[in-house]
Amino acid sequence: MIKPAVVKHSGTDLNDGKLPAHVAVIMDGNGRWARKCGLPRIAGHRKGAETVRKLITLCGKKKIPFLTLFAFSSENWKRPQPEVSRLMELFVSALDKDIGELHENNVRFRVIGDRTSLDPGIVEKIVKGETLTVANTGLQLNVAINYGGKWDILNACQKIVDESGHAKRKPGSITFEDLETALSTAGQPEPDLFIRTGGERRISNFLLWQLAYTELYFSDVLWPDFGNKEFEQALAEYAGRQRRFGQTGEQVEAG
Ligand code: FPP
Repeated sequence: MIKPAVVKHSGTDLNDGKLPAHVAVIMDGNGRWARKCGLPRIAGHRKGAETVRKLITLCGKKKIPFLTLFAFSSENWKRPQPEVSRLMELFVSALDKDIGELHENNVRFRVIGDRTSLDPGIVEKIVKGETLTVANTGLQLNVAINYGGKWDILNACQKIVDESGHAKRKPGSITFEDLETALSTAGQPEPDLFIRTGGERRISNFLLWQLAYTELYFSDVLWPDFGNKEFEQALAEYAGRQRRFGQTGEQVEAG
């Protein structure tokens, strides 16, 4: 019999379960924000990067330990080539400009996603940023670039088979824990709170495995306009939710 997965979440252990330990965000609406302002789409992404900086600061202040941001999906390559290039340039300049400050603020930076099709120059900067901040003990910031939830699961399966070498791995010997330790978020709690801005109600191939028991929060506000007030509203709604993880409400209330 397959053992049920151990649901790793620490939100309920933190501040009486009222504050999420891990927040995952789809930052949607940059393009529409730019159009609304009569600006090119990249101006929306630049403004979105400012919102990212504010959110990182707020998470640090609130001592939320994990933040995962969906910056570029494995499907985003289908966008017009100039927008893809501009986005990559924006990531590079954010890395150049912000990594020092992230380090000073004790943030541990990590990129999740398939690096094999990223420009080697970007990968080099990513590795530099990760190496610089690896020993930091504050906020763990995961930035998902060329990330897809399906890719993450497939990649984990491939790693498990690869690591078993020539010894054929018996299917029944593969456990939930094996898979979780092979995912890009290995060792981190699963997100407690997922936020998607910009009005769409979709997961869009984000953390498919990791979001199994996450509280979903959708906001119509476009990402560049998603400020501290909007984030506080999301946290307040999260605090009011009862997380049951398969139990009944009465069981949860009885502790
Ligand atoms: C989705 O909005 C947004 C993206 C695909 C890019 C997100 C990137 C940033 C916020 C830039 C900075 C990020 C970091 C980590 C420095 P959209 O373009 O799909 O908006 P639309 O739906 O209104 O067109």
